[in-house]
Amino acid sequence: MHAADKVVITTLVENYVDMLIPDTDTVKRPGLAYHFDLRNQKILAENGLAMLVDVYFGGKRYRILLDTGLTDTVILHNMSALGISPNEIDHVVLSHGHPDHYGGLLGLLKARDYPLTVTLHPDAFLIRHVKAGNGMVIPYYNQSLRRDEIEAAGARLVLARDPVPVCPAATTTGEIPFEVAFEPPGPAAGTASSLWCLRDGRFEEDATVDDMALIVNIKDKGLLVITGCAHAGVINTIHHARKITGEEKIYALLGGFHLGFPGIPADKCTMTIEELKGLNPTVVSPMHCSGFRTLAAVQQAMPEAFLLNTAGAQITL
Ligand SMILES: [Fe+2]
Ligand SMILES: [Fe+2]
Repeated sequence: MHAADKVVITTLVENYVDMLIPDTDTVKRPGLAYHFDLRNQKILAENGLAMLVDVYFGGKRYRILLDTGLTDTVILHNMSALGISPNEIDHVVLSHGHPDHYGGLLGLLKARDYPLTVTLHPDAFLIRHVKAGNGMVIPYYNQSLRRDEIEAAGARLVLARDPVPVCPAATTTGEIPFEVAFEPPGPAAGTASSLWCLRDGRFEEDATVDDMALIVNIKDKGLLVITGCAHAGVINTIHHARKITGEEKIYALLGGFHLGFPGIPADKCTMTIEELKGLNPTVVSPMHCSGFRTLAAVQQAMPEAFLLNTAGAQITL
């Protein structure tokens, strides 16, 4: 796998927005002056994730979009505010088939003048139900991800369980094996809720095996790993990223850590952070579904590496 000369990540959709966080050498954000200027469109936040990952290699820029947020309203609005045209996206990777990650896809496709390659795991299309701990059932909560609809809107699908290279220096992880003891299958492990999917006409427990991350190899630095929800576990994801690339050094980790789900035990958060500390990454940014408890704990355990990501932030690595 080649190494990128530079990577610039623009956070298009995130749960948080904050105009008061000061810029640093690596992170620039639309600040107070931007937000108070009547002429500017304001940056919106929502409970979802979308990261535009610009990979610079061999004098070219590859614009890869990991996930599309919960609604097309927010991603298209924030792209417009940041001066990014839907036509500029080269490749979409969907981390998994949950609405807070694919929700803006159909609108994005319709906003373009050209077809768009979309890589995802075939299980992303399975019919899914939630049975919440209080007995509530949410039937077919992913019904807005329809293959016929997105193909008709211009999606050219790459359905793959294995890693898919998306440019010379970036790849998807493909399906991630569950190897770490405290990160077993089952996105709601440790909670009273359960997830179900319909496979071959039968309901089975849904381990969200379609969950995958995006990896970029950065020259002289190491791997950048960007997770969607990390249903497969953040540490499982990192182990798999190292294995498929042959690169040991984890330079930066960003994305959802899936530790904010109600009922997830505090020691899972503690064990995750202990493992992360051992890897000594330069940047760690728990986002989206990581939960405030995890953000606070990472900030305390790894203050130099911790990065609070927000909608509109631009990170240069
Ligand atoms: Fe999520
Ligand atoms: Fe998810």
